Amino acid sequence: MLDLVKVIITDITDFTATTSITVIMSVMAVVSGAGLGCAPAMEPVGITHTSAAPPPTTSASAAAPPWKHEATFKKLPRANARRFPSTGHLFGRYDADVFVNEPARAVYAAVGPGHALPEGALLVEVHLAKDGTPGPVFAMEKLSSGWSFIELDAKLRPVRQGRLSPCVECHAHVASQDHVFGVPSTGL
Ligand code: HEC
Repeated sequence: MLDLVKVIITDITDFTATTSITVIMSVMAVVSGAGLGCAPAMEPVGITHTSAAPPPTTSASAAAPPWKHEATFKKLPRANARRFPSTGHLFGRYDADVFVNEPARAVYAAVGPGHALPEGALLVEVHLAKDGTPGPVFAMEKLSSGWSFIELDAKLRPVRQGRLSPCVECHAHVASQDHVFGVPSTGL
């Protein structure tokens, strides 16, 4: 995304100042438009085998079927020692806990370059407002086709899933460690 912006901005350096500002503003609009819920379908980044990965799907959460991993998730242990402020999601408004399943556990505990999670890995980040009210839940599931990102509401009803934007683009910053950031070592 940043490279794209640089290319576009480089391309417009010959324009008059007024035109450049207009174009830059529309570039900014595209970039900031990659927010939750209003993102255009973008070229997937960082998914290993894009051809087979499921396309994003959206459903009205009230009518959505229950999340297939709901029962599993409720039994998962927490990966972080202490709840931490989420810096990556939802403008830093929430604290978070991360829960991971058995196939993911050892690698997630040692997140770092060259450590890839196995197929079947499930990572679930739960957000809580500062007063403890549950917020949206974000999950990642490693399929044979690569990571599927899942956005759920506070009641664990799926809202969107697949190669979601902007999830894919931001997690691509840590492509060297299999698109996984890991939890901070110090919590609240
Ligand atoms: C702007 C960058 C950014 C975006 C966009 C983003 N994430 Fe994250 N994500 C992070 C960061 C940073 C962390 C580490 C924990 C934290 O700060 O919340 C993280 C952690 C996670 C985790 C815990 C596993 C890990 O990487 O350690 C999951 C699951 C997750 N994100 C899912 C999602 C989903 C689903 C979306 C889209 C709905 C999404 N993320 C969008 C930056 C981002």
